[in-house]
Amino acid sequence: MPDAPFDAFRYAHAHRLEVAWLSQNTNHLVPPGVIEGAVDEALRTRRHEGYPYAPGDPELLDLVRADFGRDDLVPFLTSGGTEALYMTTRALLGPGDEVVASDPSYLIIHRFVDLCGARTVNLDIYRAPYRLTSDRVRDAIGPKTKMILLIDPLNPLGSGYPRDEVRAIAEIAHDHHLTLLNDVTYRDFSDGHALAAEFAPEETVTVWSVSKNCGLAGLRLGGLLARPDRVKAIGRFNTNDLGVNVLAQAAATAALRTKSHWIGEVVRQTRANNARLRDCARSVEGVSLPVDPSRANMTVLDIAESGIRPEALQEEMLRRDGVFVRAGNYLSPQYGARFVRVSFSNPPGDIDRFVAAFPRAMERLRPATPAAR
Ligand SMILES: Cc1ncc(COP(=O)(O)O)c(C=O)c1O
Repeated sequence: MPDAPFDAFRYAHAHRLEVAWLSQNTNHLVPPGVIEGAVDEALRTRRHEGYPYAPGDPELLDLVRADFGRDDLVPFLTSGGTEALYMTTRALLGPGDEVVASDPSYLIIHRFVDLCGARTVNLDIYRAPYRLTSDRVRDAIGPKTKMILLIDPLNPLGSGYPRDEVRAIAEIAHDHHLTLLNDVTYRDFSDGHALAAEFAPEETVTVWSVSKNCGLAGLRLGGLLARPDRVKAIGRFNTNDLGVNVLAQAAATAALRTKSHWIGEVVRQTRANNARLRDCARSVEGVSLPVDPSRANMTVLDIAESGIRPEALQEEMLRRDGVFVRAGNYLSPQYGARFVRVSFSNPPGDIDRFVAAFPRAMERLRPATPAAR
């Protein structure tokens, strides 16, 4: 029997304590004390034995509203932003509809669009400015367009949108009566980030998450933020009729309550890591960074010139060095075979390991002669 293909996630989880996890844009920099007390208290008082208050802890809902500074918008809790994205597409799209989106992109959302019988119109953004532009969005709109997908900052490229461009895209959504799905999962990492809801509050559905800013990816909590009528329409597709995880709510409440005290240091360390990683990547032949600096906590390293396959690099670094970076194929049909994505909201020691491992792995894998590439 041929060997089963290498399962990177199975391997990485099995070796979790030894792995530098640079593969999922998770955040390993939030001080542990921020949530420990709250989760301990929830366990001690056996909150897990009962259901939560179904609409969500009122304090948490207030904190989300305050975090976005929008009293006119209603927050709705889901099991991770992923579920909010699923519900929104399910509720607002039907067969034949089109969504203006990009390639590369966070393709899970595109899959949700497909499930509705709709399709994404993927604008090729693997060239400067490595994001959508209002002109290209306007040109892509046709009679079937129902939605624009604005992921800001963008996974995987780390590109972000200047305020004027958010405004221009929001105005297009308004003028054409389109839903603007604004995924702001990484907004805390982006200086001067602008919410599309500021410019098109009726049309915008904001999807947020505490996975990346608050370092709570494993607890699975996120949600929607939109005008009440929108939340009602989308809420019909809620599967968490009995509420979302109580421990996750306790942790998110504690994290958002204190966020202003620690987020600055998280972002500072993330940027310092970005700079070290860039210097290392640039010193290796055949490697380039399309977007630098990143406005998120990840970046793309394009290794196409080296002749090395991203999957081979992912496996080599994980098995030999315990450094987990992610091959690009799940993020871009057209360009995924060119790049790996590396995330860096990690302790500096993880970046030390990347800096030691990456050049060595590239040399080991480099084809012997240019002809062999
Ligand atoms: C752009 C984007 N949206 C949503 C998510 C999902 O976040 P959550 O963990 O809240 O489901 C991710 C996760 O990587 C993401 O990159």
